[in-house]
Amino acid sequence: MAAATLSHRLSMISLTSTQAGRREFTRLEKQAAAGHLTQVWSDLEADLPKPLEHRFVDLKKRLVPPEQYEALQASWDRLRIALKERAVEIEAAGPDYIPTVLFTSIGPDGTFPEDIAKLIKSRGCCVIRGVVSREQALKWKSDLMDYVRKHPLIAGPPSAQDPQIWKTYWTKPQLEGRTHPDMIKAQVAMSKLYSCDEDTEVDVGSQALYADRFRIRWPGDSGTLPYHLDNGSIERWEDEENSKTFSAIWEGRWEEYDAFDMNHRTEACVDLYGGPGACSVFRSLQGWLSLADNGPKCGTIELLPDIKLSTAYILLRPFFDANNKLDMESTYFYGADPGFGQVVKDTWHPDLQLSKTVVAAPKAAPGDYVFWHCDMVHKVEEKHEGTKDSSVMYIPIVPLTAYNISNLVEQRKAFIEGVPPPDMISRDGEELEKEHEDRGLAKDILTLGGKRIFGLAPFDLTEDGITRGQIEVRRLANEALGFNDLATYDRQ
Ligand SMILES: [Fe+2]
Repeated sequence: MAAATLSHRLSMISLTSTQAGRREFTRLEKQAAAGHLTQVWSDLEADLPKPLEHRFVDLKKRLVPPEQYEALQASWDRLRIALKERAVEIEAAGPDYIPTVLFTSIGPDGTFPEDIAKLIKSRGCCVIRGVVSREQALKWKSDLMDYVRKHPLIAGPPSAQDPQIWKTYWTKPQLEGRTHPDMIKAQVAMSKLYSCDEDTEVDVGSQALYADRFRIRWPGDSGTLPYHLDNGSIERWEDEENSKTFSAIWEGRWEEYDAFDMNHRTEACVDLYGGPGACSVFRSLQGWLSLADNGPKCGTIELLPDIKLSTAYILLRPFFDANNKLDMESTYFYGADPGFGQVVKDTWHPDLQLSKTVVAAPKAAPGDYVFWHCDMVHKVEEKHEGTKDSSVMYIPIVPLTAYNISNLVEQRKAFIEGVPPPDMISRDGEELEKEHEDRGLAKDILTLGGKRIFGLAPFDLTEDGITRGQIEVRRLANEALGFNDLATYDRQ
Protein backbone atom coordinates (compact mmCIF):
# COMPACT_ATOMS: atom_id res chain seq x y z
CA MET A 1 0.00 0.00 0.00
CA ALA A 2 1.39 3.41 -0.94
CA ALA A 3 0.47 4.85 2.42
CA ALA A 4 2.91 2.52 4.11
CA THR A 5 5.73 4.66 2.76
CA LEU A 6 4.48 7.73 4.58
CA SER A 7 6.15 9.01 7.70
CA HIS A 8 2.92 9.36 9.65
CA ARG A 9 3.02 7.49 12.90
CA LEU A 10 0.83 4.44 12.82
CA SER A 11 -1.70 4.12 15.56
CA MET A 12 -2.09 0.63 16.89
CA ILE A 13 -5.73 0.21 16.20
CA SER A 14 -5.97 -2.56 13.66
CA LEU A 15 -8.82 -4.92 14.06
CA THR A 16 -7.59 -8.32 15.05
CA SER A 17 -9.59 -11.26 13.94
CA THR A 18 -9.33 -14.98 13.84
CA GLN A 19 -11.09 -15.22 10.49
CA ALA A 20 -8.62 -16.01 7.74
CA GLY A 21 -8.64 -13.51 4.92
CA ARG A 22 -10.38 -10.73 6.80
CA ARG A 23 -9.03 -7.35 5.89
CA GLU A 24 -7.08 -5.54 8.58
CA PHE A 25 -7.43 -1.82 8.98
CA THR A 26 -4.67 0.38 10.24
CA ARG A 27 -5.63 3.98 10.62
CA LEU A 28 -3.10 6.77 10.43
CA GLU A 29 -2.78 9.14 13.31
CA LYS A 30 -3.54 12.77 12.54
CA GLN A 31 -0.79 15.25 13.12
CA ALA A 32 -1.04 18.48 15.06
CA ALA A 33 2.12 20.21 13.96
CA ALA A 34 1.89 23.99 13.68
CA GLY A 35 0.52 24.96 10.30
CA HIS A 36 -0.39 21.40 9.47
CA LEU A 37 -4.03 22.28 9.02
CA THR A 38 -3.39 25.19 6.70
CA GLN A 39 -3.88 23.01 3.64
CA VAL A 40 -6.62 20.49 3.96
CA TRP A 41 -8.03 20.66 0.44
CA SER A 42 -6.51 19.98 -2.96
CA ASP A 43 -5.13 23.14 -4.52
CA LEU A 44 -7.92 24.91 -6.40
CA GLU A 45 -5.99 27.90 -7.65
CA ALA A 46 -4.29 26.53 -10.76
CA ASP A 47 -6.09 26.25 -14.11
CA LEU A 48 -5.16 22.62 -14.32
CA PRO A 49 -5.00 20.27 -11.37
CA LYS A 50 -1.67 19.09 -10.09
CA PRO A 51 -0.55 16.02 -12.09
CA LEU A 52 -0.20 12.97 -9.86
CA GLU A 53 2.62 10.44 -9.98
CA HIS A 54 2.93 8.11 -12.96
CA ARG A 55 1.60 5.18 -10.95
CA PHE A 56 -1.84 6.70 -11.28
CA VAL A 57 -1.78 5.93 -15.01
CA ASP A 58 -1.42 2.29 -14.02
CA LEU A 59 -4.31 2.74 -11.63
CA LYS A 60 -6.53 4.04 -14.43
CA LYS A 61 -5.55 1.06 -16.55
CA ARG A 62 -6.38 -1.32 -13.72
CA LEU A 63 -9.84 0.18 -13.36
CA VAL A 64 -10.54 0.34 -17.09
CA PRO A 65 -8.88 -2.31 -19.28
CA PRO A 66 -8.67 -1.76 -23.07
CA GLU A 67 -11.71 -3.89 -23.87
CA GLN A 68 -13.83 -1.36 -21.95
CA TYR A 69 -12.54 1.78 -23.66
CA GLU A 70 -15.31 1.96 -26.21
CA ALA A 71 -18.06 1.39 -23.68
CA LEU A 72 -16.56 4.00 -21.36
CA GLN A 73 -16.47 6.65 -24.07
CA ALA A 74 -20.08 5.93 -24.99
CA SER A 75 -21.12 6.05 -21.34
CA TRP A 76 -19.36 9.40 -20.87
CA ASP A 77 -21.23 10.83 -23.84
CA ARG A 78 -24.57 9.62 -22.42
CA LEU A 79 -23.66 10.96 -18.99
CA ARG A 80 -22.98 14.46 -20.27
CA ILE A 81 -26.38 14.55 -21.95
CA ALA A 82 -28.10 13.27 -18.82
CA LEU A 83 -26.37 15.91 -16.71
CA LYS A 84 -27.46 18.65 -19.05
CA GLU A 85 -31.07 17.59 -18.67
CA ARG A 86 -30.80 17.19 -14.92
CA ALA A 87 -29.25 20.63 -14.48
CA VAL A 88 -32.33 22.20 -16.08
CA GLU A 89 -34.58 20.20 -13.78
CA ILE A 90 -32.67 21.03 -10.58
CA GLU A 91 -32.29 24.70 -11.39
CA ALA A 92 -36.03 25.00 -12.02
CA ALA A 93 -36.96 23.30 -8.75
CA GLY A 94 -34.25 24.89 -6.58
CA PRO A 95 -34.23 23.76 -2.93
CA ASP A 96 -37.48 21.85 -3.48
CA TYR A 97 -35.49 19.30 -5.48
CA ILE A 98 -34.16 18.08 -2.13
CA PRO A 99 -36.91 15.88 -0.63
CA THR A 100 -38.53 16.82 2.64
CA VAL A 101 -40.08 13.85 4.42
CA LEU A 102 -41.93 13.46 7.68
CA PHE A 103 -40.39 11.68 10.64
CA THR A 104 -43.80 10.10 11.18
CA SER A 105 -43.55 8.40 7.78
CA ILE A 106 -41.02 5.93 9.22
CA GLY A 107 -42.95 2.68 9.59
CA PRO A 108 -43.18 0.26 12.53
CA ASP A 109 -40.36 -1.76 10.99
CA GLY A 110 -38.07 1.25 11.26
CA THR A 111 -37.85 1.95 7.53
CA PHE A 112 -39.30 4.50 5.14
CA PRO A 113 -42.16 3.48 2.83
CA GLU A 114 -40.89 2.31 -0.56
CA ASP A 115 -41.84 5.44 -2.52
CA ILE A 116 -40.16 7.76 -0.03
CA ALA A 117 -37.07 5.55 0.17
CA LYS A 118 -36.83 5.55 -3.62
CA LEU A 119 -37.04 9.33 -3.76
CA ILE A 120 -34.37 9.87 -1.08
CA LYS A 121 -32.07 7.34 -2.75
CA SER A 122 -32.37 8.95 -6.16
CA ARG A 123 -31.56 12.40 -4.79
CA GLY A 124 -29.08 11.13 -2.18
CA CYS A 125 -30.23 13.60 0.44
CA CYS A 126 -33.28 14.76 2.39
CA VAL A 127 -34.66 16.76 5.25
CA ILE A 128 -36.58 14.75 7.84
CA ARG A 129 -39.15 17.02 9.40
CA GLY A 130 -39.86 16.90 13.14
CA VAL A 131 -37.43 14.29 14.47
CA VAL A 132 -37.48 16.01 17.85
CA SER A 133 -39.69 18.89 18.94
CA ARG A 134 -38.77 22.49 18.31
CA GLU A 135 -38.66 23.03 22.07
CA GLN A 136 -36.23 20.15 22.56
CA ALA A 137 -33.87 21.34 19.82
CA LEU A 138 -33.90 24.92 21.10
CA LYS A 139 -33.27 23.71 24.63
CA TRP A 140 -30.19 21.82 23.43
CA LYS A 141 -28.95 24.96 21.68
CA SER A 142 -29.54 27.10 24.74
CA ASP A 143 -27.69 24.58 26.92
CA LEU A 144 -24.82 24.50 24.43
CA MET A 145 -24.60 28.29 24.44
CA ASP A 146 -24.56 28.33 28.25
CA TYR A 147 -21.79 25.77 28.20
CA VAL A 148 -19.49 27.68 25.85
CA ARG A 149 -20.16 30.95 27.65
CA LYS A 150 -18.95 29.24 30.79
CA HIS A 151 -15.91 27.82 28.98
CA PRO A 152 -14.85 30.50 26.47
CA LEU A 153 -11.41 28.97 25.87
CA ILE A 154 -13.04 26.03 24.10
CA ALA A 155 -13.84 28.30 21.11
CA GLY A 156 -12.92 26.94 17.69
CA PRO A 157 -12.87 28.22 14.10
CA PRO A 158 -12.96 30.58 12.37
CA SER A 159 -11.46 32.67 15.22
CA ALA A 160 -11.35 32.72 19.00
CA GLN A 161 -12.95 36.18 18.95
CA ASP A 162 -15.84 35.17 16.69
CA PRO A 163 -16.21 31.39 16.77
CA GLN A 164 -18.87 29.49 14.85
CA ILE A 165 -17.67 26.11 16.01
CA TRP A 166 -16.53 25.06 19.47
CA LYS A 167 -14.21 22.22 20.33
CA THR A 168 -16.77 20.38 22.36
CA TYR A 169 -17.54 16.75 21.77
CA TRP A 170 -18.89 15.53 25.07
CA THR A 171 -21.36 18.10 26.39
CA LYS A 172 -24.62 16.81 27.82
CA PRO A 173 -26.76 18.29 24.99
CA GLN A 174 -24.54 16.57 22.42
CA LEU A 175 -24.82 13.28 24.29
CA GLU A 176 -28.58 13.69 24.45
CA GLY A 177 -28.82 14.61 20.77
CA ARG A 178 -26.90 11.53 19.70
CA THR A 179 -28.82 9.14 21.92
CA HIS A 180 -32.38 10.48 21.93
CA PRO A 181 -34.60 7.52 20.88
CA ASP A 182 -36.16 9.46 18.00
CA MET A 183 -32.75 10.62 16.77
CA ILE A 184 -31.64 6.99 16.75
CA LYS A 185 -34.84 6.01 14.94
CA ALA A 186 -34.16 8.57 12.20
CA GLN A 187 -30.52 7.49 11.93
CA VAL A 188 -31.42 3.82 11.59
CA ALA A 189 -34.11 4.55 8.97
CA MET A 190 -31.52 6.47 6.93
CA SER A 191 -28.88 3.78 7.47
CA LYS A 192 -31.32 1.13 6.25
CA LEU A 193 -31.63 2.83 2.87
CA TYR A 194 -28.42 0.93 2.16
CA SER A 195 -28.72 -2.70 1.14
CA CYS A 196 -26.27 -5.57 1.34
CA ASP A 197 -25.94 -9.34 1.11
CA GLU A 198 -26.71 -11.67 4.01
CA ASP A 199 -23.02 -12.22 4.79
CA THR A 200 -21.76 -8.67 4.36
CA GLU A 201 -20.31 -7.67 7.70
CA VAL A 202 -22.28 -4.54 8.39
CA ASP A 203 -24.98 -3.69 10.87
CA VAL A 204 -27.09 -0.90 9.48
CA GLY A 205 -29.25 -1.15 12.59
CA SER A 206 -26.40 -0.07 14.88
CA GLN A 207 -24.32 3.09 15.01
CA ALA A 208 -20.65 3.46 15.91
CA LEU A 209 -20.17 6.89 17.43
CA TYR A 210 -18.34 9.64 15.56
CA ALA A 211 -18.41 12.60 17.91
CA ASP A 212 -18.53 15.83 15.96
CA ARG A 213 -19.13 19.42 17.01
CA PHE A 214 -21.93 21.96 16.72
CA ARG A 215 -22.10 25.26 14.83
CA ILE A 216 -23.74 28.57 15.61
CA ARG A 217 -23.37 30.92 12.66
CA TRP A 218 -24.53 34.55 12.75
CA PRO A 219 -25.63 36.64 9.72
CA GLY A 220 -22.94 38.07 7.47
CA ASP A 221 -20.34 36.84 5.03
CA SER A 222 -18.06 34.08 6.00
CA GLY A 223 -15.24 32.05 4.55
CA THR A 224 -16.60 28.63 3.78
CA LEU A 225 -15.21 25.39 2.46
CA PRO A 226 -15.05 24.79 -1.30
CA TYR A 227 -17.43 22.47 -3.12
CA HIS A 228 -16.23 19.14 -1.85
CA LEU A 229 -16.90 15.50 -1.07
CA ASP A 230 -16.39 13.84 2.30
CA ASN A 231 -15.51 10.19 2.81
CA GLY A 232 -12.12 10.18 1.20
CA SER A 233 -10.59 11.42 -2.00
CA ILE A 234 -8.25 9.46 -4.27
CA GLU A 235 -9.27 6.42 -2.20
CA ARG A 236 -12.36 6.05 -4.39
CA TRP A 237 -10.04 5.05 -7.24
CA GLU A 238 -6.95 3.83 -5.45
CA ASP A 239 -8.23 1.56 -2.70
CA GLU A 240 -9.16 -1.63 -4.49
CA GLU A 241 -12.12 -2.50 -2.30
CA ASN A 242 -13.38 1.08 -2.38
CA SER A 243 -13.17 1.13 -6.18
CA LYS A 244 -15.35 -2.00 -6.42
CA THR A 245 -18.33 0.03 -5.22
CA PHE A 246 -18.10 1.86 -8.54
CA SER A 247 -17.67 -1.17 -10.84
CA ALA A 248 -20.69 -0.30 -12.96
CA ILE A 249 -19.20 3.14 -13.57
CA TRP A 250 -15.77 1.77 -14.60
CA GLU A 251 -17.50 -0.67 -16.94
CA GLY A 252 -19.43 2.00 -18.80
CA ARG A 253 -22.76 1.14 -17.19
CA TRP A 254 -23.25 4.11 -14.84
CA GLU A 255 -27.03 3.82 -15.26
CA GLU A 256 -26.83 0.61 -13.21
CA TYR A 257 -24.71 2.10 -10.42
CA ASP A 258 -26.39 1.83 -7.02
CA ALA A 259 -25.09 4.45 -4.59
CA PHE A 260 -26.81 2.63 -1.73
CA ASP A 261 -25.20 -0.77 -2.25
CA MET A 262 -23.19 -1.40 0.91
CA ASN A 263 -21.38 -4.58 -0.10
CA HIS A 264 -17.99 -3.08 -0.95
CA ARG A 265 -18.23 0.00 1.22
CA THR A 266 -17.90 -1.87 4.48
CA GLU A 267 -14.24 -2.74 3.97
CA ALA A 268 -13.28 0.21 1.81
CA CYS A 269 -10.43 2.34 3.10
CA VAL A 270 -11.39 6.03 3.00
CA ASP A 271 -8.20 7.46 4.48
CA LEU A 272 -5.09 5.91 2.90
CA TYR A 273 -2.87 8.91 3.68
CA GLY A 274 -4.03 10.22 7.06
CA GLY A 275 -4.92 13.59 5.54
CA PRO A 276 -5.26 16.24 8.25
CA GLY A 277 -8.80 17.12 7.19
CA ALA A 278 -9.88 13.58 6.43
CA CYS A 279 -12.44 11.63 8.37
CA SER A 280 -10.92 8.26 9.10
CA VAL A 281 -14.19 6.38 9.55
CA PHE A 282 -16.84 5.36 7.07
CA ARG A 283 -19.85 7.65 7.42
CA SER A 284 -22.52 6.36 5.07
CA LEU A 285 -24.37 9.65 5.32
CA GLN A 286 -23.38 12.98 6.76
CA GLY A 287 -26.03 14.82 8.73
CA TRP A 288 -26.95 17.61 11.08
CA LEU A 289 -29.80 18.31 13.39
CA SER A 290 -31.19 21.78 12.93
CA LEU A 291 -31.06 23.92 16.08
CA ALA A 292 -32.50 27.04 14.43
CA ASP A 293 -34.71 28.15 11.57
CA ASN A 294 -32.23 27.23 8.88
CA GLY A 295 -33.01 27.74 5.21
CA PRO A 296 -31.87 29.11 1.84
CA LYS A 297 -29.83 32.34 2.04
CA CYS A 298 -29.47 31.90 5.78
CA GLY A 299 -26.12 30.16 5.80
CA THR A 300 -27.36 26.60 5.32
CA ILE A 301 -25.85 23.61 3.51
CA GLU A 302 -25.88 23.43 -0.31
CA LEU A 303 -26.11 20.04 -2.03
CA LEU A 304 -25.96 18.56 -5.53
CA PRO A 305 -29.08 16.38 -5.29
CA ASP A 306 -28.40 13.70 -7.89
CA ILE A 307 -26.08 11.14 -6.40
CA LYS A 308 -25.80 8.81 -9.39
CA LEU A 309 -24.97 11.36 -12.09
CA SER A 310 -22.62 13.45 -9.97
CA THR A 311 -20.70 10.43 -8.69
CA ALA A 312 -20.34 8.94 -12.16
CA TYR A 313 -19.10 12.25 -13.56
CA ILE A 314 -16.56 12.93 -10.82
CA LEU A 315 -15.20 9.39 -10.97
CA LEU A 316 -14.92 9.29 -14.76
CA ARG A 317 -13.50 12.81 -15.11
CA PRO A 318 -9.82 11.69 -14.89
CA PHE A 319 -10.39 9.38 -17.87
CA PHE A 320 -11.31 12.17 -20.30
CA ASP A 321 -9.51 15.16 -21.73
CA ALA A 322 -10.71 18.70 -22.34
CA ASN A 323 -12.32 17.56 -25.59
CA ASN A 324 -14.18 14.78 -23.82
CA LYS A 325 -12.11 12.08 -25.47
CA LEU A 326 -10.79 9.09 -23.55
CA ASP A 327 -7.34 9.84 -22.14
CA MET A 328 -5.68 6.93 -20.35
CA GLU A 329 -2.26 8.62 -20.08
CA SER A 330 -2.88 11.80 -18.06
CA THR A 331 -2.54 11.83 -14.28
CA TYR A 332 -4.97 14.64 -13.61
CA PHE A 333 -7.47 13.52 -11.00
CA TYR A 334 -9.20 16.89 -10.79
CA GLY A 335 -9.20 17.67 -7.10
CA ALA A 336 -8.62 14.17 -5.72
CA ASP A 337 -5.04 14.50 -4.46
CA PRO A 338 -3.59 11.94 -2.03
CA GLY A 339 -3.85 13.22 1.52
CA PHE A 340 -6.14 16.14 0.73
CA GLY A 341 -9.88 16.58 0.81
CA GLN A 342 -11.57 16.08 -2.55
CA VAL A 343 -12.74 19.27 -4.21
CA VAL A 344 -14.91 19.97 -7.21
CA LYS A 345 -14.52 23.03 -9.38
CA ASP A 346 -16.44 24.55 -12.28
CA THR A 347 -13.57 24.62 -14.75
CA TRP A 348 -12.50 21.09 -13.88
CA HIS A 349 -16.04 19.68 -13.83
CA PRO A 350 -17.89 21.82 -16.36
CA ASP A 351 -20.71 19.37 -17.05
CA LEU A 352 -21.77 19.37 -13.41
CA GLN A 353 -22.89 22.97 -13.96
CA LEU A 354 -22.42 23.63 -10.27
CA SER A 355 -24.09 27.04 -10.36
CA LYS A 356 -27.32 25.34 -11.43
CA THR A 357 -27.15 21.94 -9.79
CA VAL A 358 -25.94 22.83 -6.31
CA VAL A 359 -28.90 24.15 -4.37
CA ALA A 360 -29.53 25.15 -0.78
CA ALA A 361 -31.28 22.67 1.46
CA PRO A 362 -34.90 23.64 2.04
CA LYS A 363 -36.03 25.22 5.28
CA ALA A 364 -35.13 23.14 8.29
CA ALA A 365 -36.70 24.18 11.57
CA PRO A 366 -35.32 23.30 15.00
CA GLY A 367 -35.74 19.53 15.34
CA ASP A 368 -35.48 18.75 11.60
CA TYR A 369 -32.61 16.49 10.55
CA VAL A 370 -30.74 16.99 7.25
CA PHE A 371 -28.81 14.14 5.58
CA TRP A 372 -26.63 13.79 2.52
CA HIS A 373 -24.88 10.79 0.95
CA CYS A 374 -21.18 10.25 1.65
CA ASP A 375 -20.26 10.84 -2.03
CA MET A 376 -22.38 13.97 -2.45
CA VAL A 377 -20.98 17.32 -3.61
CA HIS A 378 -21.72 19.93 -0.93
CA LYS A 379 -20.72 23.28 0.44
CA VAL A 380 -21.99 25.74 3.04
CA GLU A 381 -23.60 28.93 1.73
CA GLU A 382 -21.02 31.71 1.64
CA LYS A 383 -23.43 34.40 2.74
CA HIS A 384 -25.85 34.32 5.60
CA GLU A 385 -28.39 36.98 4.64
CA GLY A 386 -30.88 36.12 7.34
CA THR A 387 -31.43 37.88 10.63
CA LYS A 388 -31.00 35.04 13.11
CA ASP A 389 -28.46 32.37 13.89
CA SER A 390 -27.91 29.33 11.68
CA SER A 391 -27.17 26.56 14.14
CA VAL A 392 -26.70 22.83 13.77
CA MET A 393 -25.44 19.81 15.66
CA TYR A 394 -23.42 17.48 13.39
CA ILE A 395 -24.52 13.87 13.83
CA PRO A 396 -23.63 11.55 10.93
CA ILE A 397 -24.56 7.95 10.16
CA VAL A 398 -21.71 5.59 11.02
CA PRO A 399 -22.87 2.00 10.53
CA LEU A 400 -21.22 -0.69 12.57
CA THR A 401 -18.65 -2.30 10.26
CA ALA A 402 -15.33 -3.96 10.92
CA TYR A 403 -13.65 -0.81 9.55
CA ASN A 404 -15.52 1.34 12.06
CA ILE A 405 -14.99 -0.83 15.13
CA SER A 406 -11.56 0.55 16.01
CA ASN A 407 -13.10 4.01 15.78
CA LEU A 408 -15.75 3.02 18.29
CA VAL A 409 -13.12 1.75 20.71
CA GLU A 410 -11.20 5.02 20.38
CA GLN A 411 -14.30 7.18 20.68
CA ARG A 412 -15.26 5.45 23.91
CA LYS A 413 -11.77 6.01 25.30
CA ALA A 414 -11.80 9.69 24.32
CA PHE A 415 -15.25 10.11 25.85
CA ILE A 416 -14.25 8.57 29.16
CA GLU A 417 -11.08 10.69 29.27
CA GLY A 418 -12.86 13.87 28.15
CA VAL A 419 -10.44 14.52 25.30
CA PRO A 420 -11.09 15.16 21.58
CA PRO A 421 -11.67 12.05 19.45
CA PRO A 422 -8.71 11.04 17.24
CA ASP A 423 -9.66 12.88 14.03
CA MET A 424 -10.11 16.15 15.91
CA ILE A 425 -6.62 17.42 16.42
CA SER A 426 -5.84 19.49 19.51
CA ARG A 427 -2.66 21.44 20.02
CA ASP A 428 -0.48 21.55 23.12
CA GLY A 429 -1.92 23.81 25.79
CA GLU A 430 -5.44 23.88 24.40
CA GLU A 431 -8.22 23.68 26.94
CA LEU A 432 -9.89 20.28 26.89
CA GLU A 433 -13.25 19.15 28.12
CA LYS A 434 -11.68 16.92 30.76
CA GLU A 435 -11.15 20.16 32.68
CA HIS A 436 -14.91 20.79 32.74
CA GLU A 437 -16.81 19.22 35.59
CA ASP A 438 -20.10 19.84 33.84
CA ARG A 439 -19.27 17.86 30.70
CA GLY A 440 -21.36 14.81 29.86
CA LEU A 441 -20.42 11.53 31.46
CA ALA A 442 -21.36 7.90 30.96
CA LYS A 443 -23.97 8.15 33.70
CA ASP A 444 -25.78 10.76 31.58
CA ILE A 445 -26.53 8.20 28.85
CA LEU A 446 -29.71 6.65 30.07
CA THR A 447 -30.81 4.17 27.40
CA LEU A 448 -29.35 0.86 26.29
CA GLY A 449 -29.45 2.04 22.65
CA GLY A 450 -27.51 5.14 23.64
CA LYS A 451 -24.94 3.17 25.59
CA ARG A 452 -24.33 0.90 22.58
CA ILE A 453 -23.62 3.89 20.33
CA PHE A 454 -20.89 4.92 22.77
CA GLY A 455 -19.47 1.40 23.05
CA LEU A 456 -20.63 1.19 26.66
CA ALA A 457 -22.89 -1.84 26.29
CA PRO A 458 -22.57 -5.02 24.21
CA PHE A 459 -24.45 -5.48 20.98
CA ASP A 460 -27.20 -8.10 20.97
CA LEU A 461 -26.19 -11.19 19.01
CA THR A 462 -29.54 -12.92 19.36
CA GLU A 463 -31.91 -10.25 18.03
CA ASP A 464 -34.58 -11.69 15.76
CA GLY A 465 -34.23 -11.11 12.05
CA ILE A 466 -30.63 -9.97 11.88
CA THR A 467 -28.34 -11.21 9.12
CA ARG A 468 -25.28 -13.44 9.49
CA GLY A 469 -23.18 -10.40 8.64
CA GLN A 470 -24.80 -8.40 11.43
CA ILE A 471 -24.19 -11.16 13.94
CA GLU A 472 -20.56 -11.40 12.93
CA VAL A 473 -19.83 -7.69 13.05
CA ARG A 474 -21.60 -7.36 16.41
CA ARG A 475 -19.51 -10.25 17.69
CA LEU A 476 -16.33 -8.56 16.47
CA ALA A 477 -17.37 -5.28 18.05
CA ASN A 478 -18.16 -6.93 21.38
CA GLU A 479 -14.77 -8.63 21.29
CA ALA A 480 -12.92 -5.40 20.49
CA LEU A 481 -14.84 -3.55 23.19
CA GLY A 482 -13.96 -6.16 25.79
CA PHE A 483 -17.39 -7.74 26.15
CA ASN A 484 -15.84 -11.15 25.52
CA ASP A 485 -18.06 -13.16 27.76
CA LEU A 486 -21.02 -12.17 25.66
CA ALA A 487 -19.33 -12.79 22.34
CA THR A 488 -19.70 -16.53 22.17
CA TYR A 489 -22.81 -16.73 20.05
CA ASP A 490 -22.69 -19.84 17.93
CA ARG A 491 -22.71 -18.77 14.31
CA GLN A 492 -25.47 -20.46 12.33
FE1 LIG B 1 -18.14 18.23 4.16
